[in-house]
Amino acid sequence: MPTLLALETSCDESAAAVVRDQRVLASAVASQVEEHARWGGVVPEIASRRHVEALPGLIEQVMAEAGLAYADLDAIAATAAPGLVGALLVGSVTGRTLARLHGKPFLGVHHLEGHLCSVQLGDPLPPGPYLVLLVSGGHTEMIRVDGPGRYSRLARSRDDAAGEAFDKVARLLELGYPGGPAIQAAAAAGDPRRFPLPKGRVSLPEGGFHPYDFSFSGLKTAVLRLVTQLKAEQQAGGEPLPLADVAASFEQVVADVLVERTTRCARDQGLHTLVMVGGVAANRRLRQRLEQRCAELGLHWRLAPLAYCTDNAAMIGVAAEQRLLAGGVSDIRLAVAPRLALDQAPVLYDAPAPF
Ligand code: KG4
Ligand code: ZN
Repeated sequence: MPTLLALETSCDESAAAVVRDQRVLASAVASQVEEHARWGGVVPEIASRRHVEALPGLIEQVMAEAGLAYADLDAIAATAAPGLVGALLVGSVTGRTLARLHGKPFLGVHHLEGHLCSVQLGDPLPPGPYLVLLVSGGHTEMIRVDGPGRYSRLARSRDDAAGEAFDKVARLLELGYPGGPAIQAAAAAGDPRRFPLPKGRVSLPEGGFHPYDFSFSGLKTAVLRLVTQLKAEQQAGGEPLPLADVAASFEQVVADVLVERTTRCARDQGLHTLVMVGGVAANRRLRQRLEQRCAELGLHWRLAPLAYCTDNAAMIGVAAEQRLLAGGVSDIRLAVAPRLALDQAPVLYDAPAPF
């Protein structure tokens, strides 16, 4: 079984991991959250510089924890797309330099393929095709997986990603960045049914609504309107802003809409297993709602382990291992692509490199 060193630097987490046979030998993540929190979101230039500073120490740490020397590795991998271009470059150049120095194959990895593979770090998946709900800061998609590297996208958000909605609503509730964990904490003691919020549907040109696609930008506006109204009532002598109830109502409608549409899609597609991955998949209410609904409908479900929902390098290592076992190796001149659709992932293993 191959052993790989994997690097992840596509956004604001610097990460390194050593994996073998879909198991993590060592994994380390250095979050830059505190630094970006001052600005209310990720500042690309700061992210790149912090990756440069953090990566060497993380690599040393995971190699030492795994008890391995470079000679023991079969390949080195790094996220090559999509993401912030400067941030991606730091991981890619580091990975390719190490690969060149130590005479190892290099694999560029698609970040979303990494998220899809994160579920393999948990309990084994039931056999057969399955439907993945991928919910992160940049993407909200339903992807049918028919086997390693065989993906078809069945739905997506037409505007904001679910994580982006969490981040924007947290900002307007003055809860800080990143919004997901902040809203989850604020919502813990709240009443999730107190404020009905819209489920954002996508109209079709021929009439009616798209059965699965999401829209979260209207929800953000609805929360803004609700908060403005509640603040006006407060100033007129009403109760203090019921922050916990607003946060819980928002979290609940996001969980409801994600779970309703994904289970409907699974049923329509005749798929019996539902998988959830990505940063938002760490959300407690969403995890509970998905488990409850799958149990009611008799579907199997697998959630990415909590530690591997948000960005990490272990999932990149698992994706790279899968590609390596299928004969995939990247051209050492492979650069990075800030945008690359998941179905384009195979071009990362083309020779000569496509970019
Ligand atoms: O997958 P990820 O780490 O990075 C991307 O590839 O985008 O996802 C980050 C997103 C952020 O928007 C963050 O607010 C959200 O995941 N997130 C959560 C939670 N933890 C992280 N959203 C809801 N609940 C959480 N517990
Ligand atoms: Zn991610």
